[in-house]
Amino acid sequence: MRVYVDEVRRHDGAEVALRGWLYHRRSSGKLHFLLVRDGTGTIQCVVFAKDVPPELFERAGRLPQESALEVTGTVQADARSPLGYELAVRDLRVVQEAQDYPITPKDHGPAFLLDHRHLWLRSSRQHAIMRVRASVVRACRDYFDRRGFTLLDAPIFTPAACEGTTTLFAVDYFGTPAYLTQSGQLYMEAGAMAFGKVYCFGPTFRAEKSKTRRHLTEFWMIEPEVAFADLDDDMALAEDFLVEVVGRVVEERRTELAFLERDTAPLARVQKPFPRLRYDQALALLAAKGKPVAFGDDFGGDEETVLSEHFDRPVLVHRYPAQCKAFYMKTDPADSRLALCVDVLAPEGYGEIVGGGQREDDLAVLESRIRAHGLPLDTFSWYVDLRRYGSVPHAGFGMGIERMVAWLCGLHHVRETIPFPRMLERLTP
Ligand code: 4AD
Ligand code: MG
Repeated sequence: MRVYVDEVRRHDGAEVALRGWLYHRRSSGKLHFLLVRDGTGTIQCVVFAKDVPPELFERAGRLPQESALEVTGTVQADARSPLGYELAVRDLRVVQEAQDYPITPKDHGPAFLLDHRHLWLRSSRQHAIMRVRASVVRACRDYFDRRGFTLLDAPIFTPAACEGTTTLFAVDYFGTPAYLTQSGQLYMEAGAMAFGKVYCFGPTFRAEKSKTRRHLTEFWMIEPEVAFADLDDDMALAEDFLVEVVGRVVEERRTELAFLERDTAPLARVQKPFPRLRYDQALALLAAKGKPVAFGDDFGGDEETVLSEHFDRPVLVHRYPAQCKAFYMKTDPADSRLALCVDVLAPEGYGEIVGGGQREDDLAVLESRIRAHGLPLDTFSWYVDLRRYGSVPHAGFGMGIERMVAWLCGLHHVRETIPFPRMLERLTP
């Protein structure tokens, strides 16, 4: 019977056929140990000289790494193997014999591995990370699906900037300039006025000229937007969302996080309430830590690292100066220099994982903000329209999946958190 590796425990003592790839091989006298992976797991297949024809035994002993195989044998409980079972091989068919697989058990540098990303994805470490990523995505979707949010997909081709004109990727749209989306937010605002609570989840693009461990040019963002919500509601939503997503992923992916040697104690501390820090309080904290920032400046990676190392759980930093934030942010009625926005910084030095806030809902103010930012009013006419017909306070946020995965897995760089990373100097494979 044809089974997958993660099903063998149900076939103890039975003969099964597995299909997969040779991960590793070692021999000792009359035995060959073939580690075969099929994507659902890895199993040790033992080829015993007395159980198979001599030519098959001989071939099994010189099979190259990553050869594709079909292995038939008996499932046997084996307390020493991580899986709890191994396969006593009776027959083996080589589907394709691989030649000189470039990724060997020796250490390779990141550039070499990224050049071979199409093959690197086969390694156990990458499996663990991609499974964590899949769980993060599912937990995020479930969070909103179970709370009455409607999934509304945002377009990828857009006529205008959302997050500033310096990081736009321009494309030629039948002779008209267009851009790859930086964020689905503006469309989610239209959605919130139609459905009350919406979210989108999709790829977003930033022509980031910086080479940092936190930046990709293509990343995936989940963005909820809620009508009749203010900044406090938004912060409460982000907090509740993060607690649930982190809790679920840690629960679901214990094995993978252990494989990655991630200490999950700091993740267990991701509980409510998160500390809240106004921008001016963050400035004071930074100054006390020898990282002074002038009022009006945004925080860079270094400042975020310092702030996020100070707390044992995510911190909500709110009310940044309007001048360093996007045009759509609502001004704080208590201090017109400030925007009603929030960034969530992940602990352990990870920095910003969520950015959002309350949106400007007044027609005249929004128009003047668009002008002040030097943006073309006509391309935003549909967006401004939302302030004409039943405009209400509303708020939302965006969370970058890759930064979340990097934090949960304890990775230094976001490049391993996405199957095929796109960065300043990387477009292939
Ligand atoms: O703070 P950002 O730019 O906010 C927005 O785009 C809002 N329009 C979202 C909203 O309110 N609906 O981006 C949000 C998040 C960041 O906190 C970060 O997690 C991620 O998106 N992000 C990036 N991730 C990887 N590489 C980049 N270049 C990223 N830029 C932002
Ligand atoms: Mg941001």
